[in-house]
Amino acid sequence: MIISPAKSLKGEITVPGDKSISHRAVMFGSIANGITEIDGFLMGEDCLSTIDCFRKLGIHIEILPGNKVKVHGKGMYGLQPPSDILYTGNSGTTTRLLLGLLAGQNFECTIDGDESIRRRPMGRVIKPLKLMGADISGQKDDNLCPLAVKGQPLHGIRYELPIASAQLKSALLLASLYAEGNTFLIEPEKSRDHSELMLNYFGANIITHELGIHSTPVSELYPQHITVPGDISSAAYFIVAGLIVPNSEITIKNVGINPTRTGIIDVLISMGGKIDISNTKTLNNEPVADITVKSSSLAGTTVEGAIIPRLIDEIPVIAVAAAAAKGTTVIKDAQELKVKESNRIKTVVTELSKAGVDIQETADGMIINGGNPITGAQFESYNDHRIAMSMAVAALIAESESTVNGAEAVNISFPGYFEILKSLRV
Ligand code: S3P
Repeated sequence: MIISPAKSLKGEITVPGDKSISHRAVMFGSIANGITEIDGFLMGEDCLSTIDCFRKLGIHIEILPGNKVKVHGKGMYGLQPPSDILYTGNSGTTTRLLLGLLAGQNFECTIDGDESIRRRPMGRVIKPLKLMGADISGQKDDNLCPLAVKGQPLHGIRYELPIASAQLKSALLLASLYAEGNTFLIEPEKSRDHSELMLNYFGANIITHELGIHSTPVSELYPQHITVPGDISSAAYFIVAGLIVPNSEITIKNVGINPTRTGIIDVLISMGGKIDISNTKTLNNEPVADITVKSSSLAGTTVEGAIIPRLIDEIPVIAVAAAAAKGTTVIKDAQELKVKESNRIKTVVTELSKAGVDIQETADGMIINGGNPITGAQFESYNDHRIAMSMAVAALIAESESTVNGAEAVNISFPGYFEILKSLRV
């Protein structure tokens, strides 16, 4: 994909449905009793992997025009043994949440994914699931895919999560629905809470107090109509683009603004970003609003501690904002970036360095001295959707044309990304 510098970006757009919420709507709909209708479903490759896995588990799922999905849920005990490997593609959310859901079934199955998934640590989920009674085995001390899951009777646990990971938390919550006795989880920092909100919307009994989460097993979940808000992680590219490209004003309609996801807004406002939130409403337990951004002069900042899980997927594009900002930005406590779709500390630092950005890798993040000219470059995506989209934003403020190689990676979470970007150019 060739990207030329932009003089100005203007317009009103929507972004595709939230990835985390789309996955969960299919999963929870599959184990609810009856038909769950989903509007605004993200038709990206990751969420289609989730649909594919649940079809293999015997669930009838219709994909309808206009990003609608109909899940014919068969109840808590309606999943069937798959005749094939459950292939999760590039999707960590599918892989980890499936582990939690399948640990307590009464059948066996195998889970596997692409090259990137085969490198990503699954032991963080498998270890506590084993404490609940699960039987899961895989490569490298039961840490890597392919993984064999032999369904077992489970029991509840009290567990302090060593990392703030919504995928880990959600896997354990799914297992807890099938366990005997109660489960109590404690997070080190609050991670996204879509599972808690949506499971309760489906009739589960999950009680949250500060960093503690209490779950009791359920015998039935009730089907729902879910309207998926726009993904703030997808909106993030246009939020940053609107701030750093001169003479710009962009409104992104109907974006999910769950506070466990809005770290990027807080950071960009603290950097001097002109960001306005309007028309706030609630859709199936999730807050939604329109976000308007205007060109702004940004200043460097420090991003660390409890905010990290609230913006973990946005760090690559925050690094682009930091490259455009005057002064130094320090990103700390973000070692989780090393085990995402690519090692995002390395890939962000390598790629932005190519464009002349003064950026250094640290053990748990990066340091960016911003405000210098950005040159056009040949960027690589490493097959990582968020690297491809972030470098395309950097390319907008470069002095000359850039190329993003492996740009098709955007289809993992944002089909149509480049078309929307093009539509904003004036
Ligand atoms: C997700 C949680 C995050 C995030 C991922 C989606 C989810 O991962 O990076 O893109 O839907 O639960 P971790 O929970 O591993 O931090």
